[in-house]
Amino acid sequence: MATKLHIHDEEVSENINLYDLIKGHLLKSLKRLRTHYVDLYYLHRINELVPIEDVAVVMGKLINECLIKGWGLSQVDVDTLDKAHKVTSLTAVQNLYNILERDCEEKIFPYCLENNIGVVPFSPIASGFLSGKITTQTEFEKTDDVRNFVPQLSKENIIGNQPILDILNKFANVKNATPAQISLAWMLKKYPNVVPIPGSKNQERIIENLSAWNVELTDEEFNELQSALNQCEIHGHRGIVETQHQTFSNNWRKE
Ligand SMILES: NC(=O)c1ccc[n+]([C@@H]2O[C@H](COP(=O)([O-])OP(=O)(O)OC[C@H]3O[C@@H](n4cnc5c(N)ncnc54)[C@H](OP(=O)(O)O)[C@@H]3O)[C@@H](O)[C@H]2O)c1
Repeated sequence: MATKLHIHDEEVSENINLYDLIKGHLLKSLKRLRTHYVDLYYLHRINELVPIEDVAVVMGKLINECLIKGWGLSQVDVDTLDKAHKVTSLTAVQNLYNILERDCEEKIFPYCLENNIGVVPFSPIASGFLSGKITTQTEFEKTDDVRNFVPQLSKENIIGNQPILDILNKFANVKNATPAQISLAWMLKKYPNVVPIPGSKNQERIIENLSAWNVELTDEEFNELQSALNQCEIHGHRGIVETQHQTFSNNWRKE
């Protein structure tokens, strides 16, 4: 079982006791989850008012107290990751990663592979876009559905990224799979330490996404897919605020 904490600016003061603060968050989560420990405790976002090394020290103590088995960071760059990992070894990094958002390939994946850290890509099917089921006509029912605010799902970006869907559809037909499954199979083939977490509230899609595990791309298929994808221009990005205080996604910097 995994859960996260977020350190809000209002919680940070000059004489902050970080151990008490983080442990306080954790104990509340444990109570809500009705458990005595969690396997993985993530820091949801970096708060630049709090040195990451200090967070790492606290996470080390919580591991020693058997309240957590390991810890992770989310939406983190490689320098922060390195500072943290040198203090208390990390178990996992949960960053944005999918066919449309491949920044992690540059530094995060090589670092994690070298240091035995798992990568947990969030939004692995680009908020549903890579399933091919979202079109320019799609309207999300609920006004608070996050997909209403994802720039990558604007009409122009859906049209701009259509060549990527065409490629996924082609492979889906050949492999008797769905485009969502191909996009997950692609990253599972590409990295040995990746565990994507597609989100869905729909049982059928959950089963569809889980079955991506059974879609195995051969080396030849993977190379063909990869080189076709590399020729496509990416349009748009996923969101608005990357971390509390900074952005590091190349797609986002372009704008
Ligand atoms: N660490 C972080 O900062 C962070 C940030 C965002 C999200 N996350 C986590 O990452 C996970 C997923 O990310 P995400 O929800 O942003 O993106 P995602 O998994 O790429 O896409 C999820 C969206 O696509 C739809 N979908 C899923 N599978 C589908 C399929 N096979 N066919 C058609 N539509 C499909 C879902 O709608 P339906 O429900 O209608 O199927 C949902 O709205 C969640 O567990 C979330 O908590 C973490």
